[in-house]
Amino acid sequence: MLKELSIRNRSYRKFDESAKIDRDLLVDLVDTARYAASSVNIQPLKYYITNDPDTCAFLRANTGWARLLKDYDGPAEGECPTAYIIVCVDKSIAPNIERFSVDIGISAQTIMLAAVEKGLGGCMIKNFVNEDVASGLKLPEEIYPYLILALGIPAEEIILEDAPAGEKKTPYYRDAENRHHVPKRTTEELIVKI
Ligand SMILES: Cc1cc2nc3c(=O)[nH]c(=O)nc-3n(C[C@H](O)[C@H](O)[C@H](O)COP(=O)(O)O)c2cc1C
Repeated sequence: MLKELSIRNRSYRKFDESAKIDRDLLVDLVDTARYAASSVNIQPLKYYITNDPDTCAFLRANTGWARLLKDYDGPAEGECPTAYIIVCVDKSIAPNIERFSVDIGISAQTIMLAAVEKGLGGCMIKNFVNEDVASGLKLPEEIYPYLILALGIPAEEIILEDAPAGEKKTPYYRDAENRHHVPKRTTEELIVKI
């Protein structure tokens, strides 16, 4: 089951924008992440959630998507995410934000897997200006937005393929039919040989 979810959990960048996502579902995703491991159990993460169309439009406009793709500027009108969860660090609990980047990764992946289980899909977004997002959303001073999770009902098929052995770079790409391909290193290549 988990492997299946992991395979389905792709970075989607095209959504059914007519599909509204319940706020309760977003709260439930946070409730799932609540049980995640945390360094020294400090638990400094807080979550901004929204399914409001205007706020989603603001976040879409303030996020950078798939920068490896030339002539692509992210989800087009009608294909945008309909909810967002922003994984934030509460600086009043943890002033040293970067120390908790592993906590953030664990939490983000937990949320994404739970979202896929519920029929959603999304994309983690680090390409944004923290200050612009914090001020645009009027976040309290101590809440630092670290990683944005865009969510929605996916409306694209993503093709996973084995990356050629020995390649240093494994860029994603789109084919002539505009299908998104994601090369993954093979298991054989991932296991350290001594
Ligand atoms: C920490 C992190 C930050 C990311 N930031 C962005 C981003 O700013 N914009 C974007 O379009 N994708 C972003 N991604 C998604 C990656 O591009 C994606 O994971 C990668 O292309 C592999 O595709 P997959 O998630 O389907 O395996 C990010 C992923 C991670 C783990």
